[in-house]
Amino acid sequence: MQALDNYIESNRQRFLDELLQFLRIPSVSAQPNHKEDVLRAAEFVRDQLTAAGALKAEVMPTNGHPIVCGEYIADNNLPTVLVYGHYDVQPSDPDDLWDSPPFEPVIKDDLIIARGAADDKGQMYMHIKALEAMHGLKEVPCNIKFIFEGEEEVGSVELAPFLERHKEMLSADVVLVSDTAMIANDVPSITVGLRGLSYVEVEVTGPNRDLHSGIYGGAVANPINILAQMIASLHDNENRITVAGFYDDVQEVSAEERTEMNKAPFNLEKYKQDLEISDVWGETGYNTSERASIRPTLDVNGIWGGYTGDGAKTVLPSKAYAKISMRLVPNQDPEKITQLFQKHFESIAPDCVKVKVTPHHGGDPAVTSLESAGYQAAHKAMHDTFGKEPIPVRGGGSIPIVALFKNILGLDTVLMGFGLNSNKIHSPNENYGIFNYFKGIETIPRFYTHFASLHNK
Ligand code: BES
Ligand code: MN
Ligand code: MN
Repeated sequence: MQALDNYIESNRQRFLDELLQFLRIPSVSAQPNHKEDVLRAAEFVRDQLTAAGALKAEVMPTNGHPIVCGEYIADNNLPTVLVYGHYDVQPSDPDDLWDSPPFEPVIKDDLIIARGAADDKGQMYMHIKALEAMHGLKEVPCNIKFIFEGEEEVGSVELAPFLERHKEMLSADVVLVSDTAMIANDVPSITVGLRGLSYVEVEVTGPNRDLHSGIYGGAVANPINILAQMIASLHDNENRITVAGFYDDVQEVSAEERTEMNKAPFNLEKYKQDLEISDVWGETGYNTSERASIRPTLDVNGIWGGYTGDGAKTVLPSKAYAKISMRLVPNQDPEKITQLFQKHFESIAPDCVKVKVTPHHGGDPAVTSLESAGYQAAHKAMHDTFGKEPIPVRGGGSIPIVALFKNILGLDTVLMGFGLNSNKIHSPNENYGIFNYFKGIETIPRFYTHFASLHNK
């Protein structure tokens, strides 16, 4: 492995420069005006795969943004790892809260600051550089297939049909993903669970038009007032979700498992300080890390309606809206939860308004087995490079495709991510540590070495 570390060391500056180049492409999948940029990012990924030694690299069109596939077949007798990542990013807004422009990466205090730095461009690019290093040294211990999508941040709509269409091409022994966080740079961890997601938009309609709030106020229901009351009623006084049937399928985590999970270091004071809050909030009976991983949630992501411009306008609006996300845990089913929500929300609406619930994308929760060769290989690889045993942790975020890899391709996924919760993903000043970028590039080849030997056992 000395040769590998030398190779990485002597190419350090170029590895960084290339990532910065990738980060300059504003591949925002949600915004139609960035469609060409998303395509440019796909072509960049394809070209870099080719330059790194991939024997096949292709931009494959879909009905949405393209999917980039690549392949390095070292030897048909070796096991095959399918690497997944996403080259699309979240919108950068609010732009005025960034200290430097989101698509003009800068390095400050050993952090690479740009939209997508950690989620997921910096993390997926580590895999391309790891391939380059292994190929350069002619030491590729596994066959590697790559699938990089451009729609993860908008719900991966095209990915399921793509997996169905290309089962053969994507056949592998395990999926490897770097799109999650560790506890800290000196506390390595591996994500062994992700929450699912159900996402809805609600519309509350009162009168048929905006009204003068003096002439009609007090006599006609204000849909914003009503929506606020309805939303407030979605949690009870123990902060449990009141949607009828919501907890029916929730798999309770055993006391032993909770004790085990709570051994992972967590500093509540630091957590509060970082967020500048004097207290945390959440479901009675669970601590902060549990609330953010093994328990389901319901949150309003956005709420709007009426007059929000300069100054004051006295208006009783006709409509009010909100976007609501529910994070789900095993064995909650996103479609069932969406239906339960819809039924509940309609049932609590007073007669003075009409409500409409529109479902958006969703995704299944996922848990990984600690016994699998994939998890064990990641464990050993991180142990090699961090000099410490990584801790298994359940994450609070969602990567809906993990369940699809299992259901469509029959593959388990290893979530070997190198980010930190402090990376401000989806927020202004998103960043990724230079330390984390190179740690990833050093660890990934070791994963292949361990996986190849464990797989054959
Ligand atoms: N990489 C994140 C998910 C993530 C981040 C998992 C940190 C664990 C730790 C991913 O890109 C993401 O943002 N997923 C979305 C879901 C998607 C359907 C929009 C999410 O979790 O909100
Ligand atoms: Mn991501
Ligand atoms: Mn994301």
